[in-house]
Amino acid sequence: MTTPPAATQRPRILTGDTPTGALHLGHWVGSLENRVRLQKKYDCYFLLANMHAFTTRSEKPGEIRRDTIEIVKDWLAAGIDPERSTVVLQTEVPAIAELSWFFAMLLPFNRVMRNPTLKTEIETKDLGDKYSFGFPMYAVGQCADILAFRPLLVPVGEDQVAHIEMCREVARRFSQVYLNVNPKTEDPDYVKAGGLFPIPEALVGRIGRLVGVDGKNKMSKSLGNAIFLSDPPDAVKKKVGKIFTGRQSATEPGDVGNALFQYVEAFIPDAARVAELKDRYARGDNIGDGHIKAEVAEAISALLRPMHDRRAAYEGEAGDRKIIEVIREGTERANAVAEQTLRLAKDAMGLGFWRRTLSVDRPH
Ligand code: TRP
Repeated sequence: MTTPPAATQRPRILTGDTPTGALHLGHWVGSLENRVRLQKKYDCYFLLANMHAFTTRSEKPGEIRRDTIEIVKDWLAAGIDPERSTVVLQTEVPAIAELSWFFAMLLPFNRVMRNPTLKTEIETKDLGDKYSFGFPMYAVGQCADILAFRPLLVPVGEDQVAHIEMCREVARRFSQVYLNVNPKTEDPDYVKAGGLFPIPEALVGRIGRLVGVDGKNKMSKSLGNAIFLSDPPDAVKKKVGKIFTGRQSATEPGDVGNALFQYVEAFIPDAARVAELKDRYARGDNIGDGHIKAEVAEAISALLRPMHDRRAAYEGEAGDRKIIEVIREGTERANAVAEQTLRLAKDAMGLGFWRRTLSVDRPH
């Protein structure tokens, strides 16, 4: 027997993003920062959910392709290391599409439609009752995205927790139905009890919901209140300057629960300095909002600077080619894992008629 590479001995993590445009600080504190940290200890799979992008933008394939490449640029700039972690293109992992079908049969239709994240999305994206059949299907597909890799952890933003909960239900149900695992089995014991999937846990970032620079809504590209990871220092300064507090003067006692102080806490790394600023602000000890904003902007730009340096390696067409190669290599590794999961799932379901092998060729 050959020794497996070290990567396969580390516990696995899977998470992903739907490519919808540039990543911002909300993504960073919500999940990206966790991913960068966790790649040292875990075997990480980062999924480009480009199939999901088609659920609401099926008539814009060019945009989706561009967004897919751009989000990888953001990931690599943020510190995802392609030597260590695996970047996966969803549409080239056929096991995900196949598992989605099987999992769709284990989830009651009304259970899917009650998923609170889907419901919120239907409202906020104003989908009314005109959304495609594929739209709610993505939530089932997300169970397959995750379980194809049999991970222990799924680092996500707060808004994704409902999806992970549904995924956990499917994971339990599959092992109960096809592998006779006792429904009373405790979550951590599923594999020991003969189940196929560990019951994965969501890992939410240190700030579930970062307020945007409008000081009101959650940071979001579509609301125009985002600071992007690619923003240069002058743009950061301008945007931070917009955070509204309503405070009139440097001597007025301020509310340290306001939007500006969410940024102070999120981005000024020195805890003693944060405590000092809070204390002086609360007492109105001659400390103006403008001063605090300048400090916040500087801290954010210091965080983003190394990202901009790394991003420079991926500019232009040559950069695109490098990125496509990162995706291709990753997807090849990912298929090895996902195909094995699918084979085990099919065996459990009485579908193990014969074996198949997939390959991922170079782009033409
Ligand atoms: N739905 C997630 C989002 O919009 C993206 C996603 C797709 C995902 N598949 C996943 C996240 C699997 C975690 C695990 O952000």
